[in-house]
Amino acid sequence: MERTTAGFPREAVADRLLSASVRTSYDPMVDIDWSAPPVPGAYWLPPSRSSLYGTPLWEAMTEDQRVELTKHEVTSAASAGIWFETILMQMLIRQYYDADPTSRHAQYALTEVADECRHSIMFGRLIEAAGAPVYRAEPFDHLLGRWLKSTATGPQMYAAILIAEEILDSFQREIMADESLQPLIRMVSRIHVVEEARHVRFARDELTRQVEAAGPVAMAYARLVIGRAAYSITRRLVHPRAYAAVGIDPAAGRAAARANPHWRATLRWSAQRIADHLTELGLVAGPGRVLWRRAGLVEG
Ligand SMILES: [Fe+2]
Ligand SMILES: [Fe+2]
Repeated sequence: MERTTAGFPREAVADRLLSASVRTSYDPMVDIDWSAPPVPGAYWLPPSRSSLYGTPLWEAMTEDQRVELTKHEVTSAASAGIWFETILMQMLIRQYYDADPTSRHAQYALTEVADECRHSIMFGRLIEAAGAPVYRAEPFDHLLGRWLKSTATGPQMYAAILIAEEILDSFQREIMADESLQPLIRMVSRIHVVEEARHVRFARDELTRQVEAAGPVAMAYARLVIGRAAYSITRRLVHPRAYAAVGIDPAAGRAAARANPHWRATLRWSAQRIADHLTELGLVAGPGRVLWRRAGLVEG
């Protein structure tokens, strides 16, 4: 018998997302030619989105070094992507443990985990194909991630997911549309954008319900955790060791990026959509907002 989702908006959304997943899903192992060599001279990220673009360090670099830096910036973001996805998968599985396995909502959660399994393999292959190291989170952030993936429920769980997904999504939409960039990173971005659009829809829908259900104490706590998540995600995008790949001292590279008005504008641009959305839901306020500002994601 056909299961009806009429009158159950949560089920109806999950049902639509399950159908969309059947229509457009990728298997990066077969849909990407991993053996194709990189195109000489092509950037991995629009140069204007490099964290050092426009700085004296950028001006002093050769064209080859600039290309190389964007490669390491992209693989650093891919390393961060794997980290976030591992946290996300565990949060979804933890929620599934208590869910009704016959519900479309629970089934979509598993489908999302399946997507993220393929994404993390794809990002791992990307790092390998680029010949870059895995840029791991600093020990303290690694610990915070362990805590989040083991404990987060309610608004902070889905808000943290959305911050990571939507910031990466902004970069990836631009990359997939830019024909001058490396074909490999454009294809990886395209696959991720298509599948993440469903995850964003699922998380936004769920977050609205979680916020409606949360009391003032839970909201205050959520704002703090969300602010800290935004701060960690932003700081982690470009690992300082990425600068060492082009002969720049990591601490000097990181300091130059943090002071770089172009990079600060890029960070605000990447987080604009999610910052506006979470602000509307009342999740970017109070002491938590200070962390958003310190991360350079919002002004004032
Ligand atoms: Fe993903
Ligand atoms: Fe995702």
